[in-house]
Amino acid sequence: MSNKENWGSRVGLVLAMAGNAVGFGNFLRFPVQAVQNGGGAFIIPYLVCFLLMGIPLLFVEWSIGRHGGRYGHHSTPFMMGAMDKRALWKYIGVFGIFSNIAIAAYYCYLESWTLAYIWNFISGAFHGKTSEEVSAIFGNYVSLSNGTGGFDIMPIVFWIICLAMNTYILSRGLSGGVEVVAKIGMPLLIIFGIFLAYKGITLKAGQHGAINDGTLGLNYLWTPNFDSIWTPKVWLAAAGQIFFTLSVGMGSIQCYASFVKGKDDIALNSMSAGWMNEFVEVVLGSSIIIPISVGYLGIDKVAELAANGGLGMGFKTLPYLFEQWGPTLSVVSGIMFFSLLFFAGITSSLAMGTPCMSFLEDEYKWSREKAALTFGLVILVLGLPTVLFFNYGVFDEYDYWAGTVSLVVFALAEVVLFSWVFGIKKGWAELMEGADIKIPNVYKYITLYITPVLLGAVFIASLPEIWSKIINKDIYEKIGAATDSTVIAELQKTLLFVNISRIGLIFVFAVIAFMVYKAYQKRLKEGKNLTWVQQL
Ligand code: PHE
Repeated sequence: MSNKENWGSRVGLVLAMAGNAVGFGNFLRFPVQAVQNGGGAFIIPYLVCFLLMGIPLLFVEWSIGRHGGRYGHHSTPFMMGAMDKRALWKYIGVFGIFSNIAIAAYYCYLESWTLAYIWNFISGAFHGKTSEEVSAIFGNYVSLSNGTGGFDIMPIVFWIICLAMNTYILSRGLSGGVEVVAKIGMPLLIIFGIFLAYKGITLKAGQHGAINDGTLGLNYLWTPNFDSIWTPKVWLAAAGQIFFTLSVGMGSIQCYASFVKGKDDIALNSMSAGWMNEFVEVVLGSSIIIPISVGYLGIDKVAELAANGGLGMGFKTLPYLFEQWGPTLSVVSGIMFFSLLFFAGITSSLAMGTPCMSFLEDEYKWSREKAALTFGLVILVLGLPTVLFFNYGVFDEYDYWAGTVSLVVFALAEVVLFSWVFGIKKGWAELMEGADIKIPNVYKYITLYITPVLLGAVFIASLPEIWSKIINKDIYEKIGAATDSTVIAELQKTLLFVNISRIGLIFVFAVIAFMVYKAYQKRLKEGKNLTWVQQL
């Protein structure tokens, strides 16, 4: 076998998997999704989706991964190919490489913002600024503007530093790179998170200029609103958040799991990593941004910010709010918060690099260094438009197609493959091999019936939205409503960039599919089908 990667220890594996899952989804996306969907209204669908889709998908993906690893496969096209002979599965498996590349292309840019913000806190850039000025720093940053009409190169510099760090760590391999970063980053993230959550929850009205107690925000989020059960939009958002935060439907869990030895546990490990992610999301993720922002700005203002802030909300508002805590505490909190985000981000982007690298190493016999460098270069090329044209919707376009739609499609396909094609009996036997816990039998039936049906429902329910995206309904409506010619020109430009982004994404998918085809032909010529195992 060409690929000799291995996990160094069980703790390292679980931390790397948890690091894969814990990312911006937990700290930035979750609070914004919750607020956009009515606070407490979001929580019930969210938890139901975790139990009925999240957990089964974790079982399925860890099992597909370790099963593939038995035959020396570490990329989803070939892992899935080893479970059923039909060619279709290999090409569905392309999603498991594609999504990671396309997500990394915008995710690494976001990751680089955290480096810039750590630097801003160290250099005192937020000091003495009004909230508008702090929010303008973000606006300028993503417009590559120095604030006086000139061009600012620093966002590009931070982004390239970030890509270089990812490439370097990936080139050191799993146990020598990824695992080391996870072992350092995850504990620090949790310590910083607990500190900031404590500050958020104990925030008192009247102290440091806050107008509400921190607990107001927390109650807003955690007071369940049962009416939401009847709102499809909330369910879609909850399902989307579960996918994104657990990194299911992406291909990165399968890839990490394919390096687990055949007899080592995956049942308990998958649960440890998954629940650790949920702890970080619902306990830490919900106790920082929301309590602090609501404490200073009130619920209505936070809802308004969330409605048009997206992932940027934490960057626009938090530095100013931290500044209210006095010179020392503000810098300490700021550095902690953005370092926490950086650790969350890098442990996830490393997970996005491995599927692509493993594919090149397994099938094309590339060295790890060459594969890591190639991944870095691909992200550089594909990510550049998100950096240069952030305000023209490129970033959001990648996020929608690769970070939302693809996940549902791929998850649905893999559950069907696992439960119905490969067969739940064999699938469950794989999951149970070496298991250190007993999984309640009911999960077998959930994975067989409920998860695929729910996934199918989520997909069907999102079709109208997918269609309106395809025909660019929103943008055309805005163009129709606009009167100012410069606004119309900007919208036209957005339209162009959005369409180019889509062509780019389709092109990436096609290239990977072609490479999978070539690799499979090569295997056939060598007489090694997908369940061929090298005789030792
Ligand atoms: N789960 C990560 C987050 O919450 C995102 C991610 C996507 C990680 C794709 C790995 C692969 O931010």
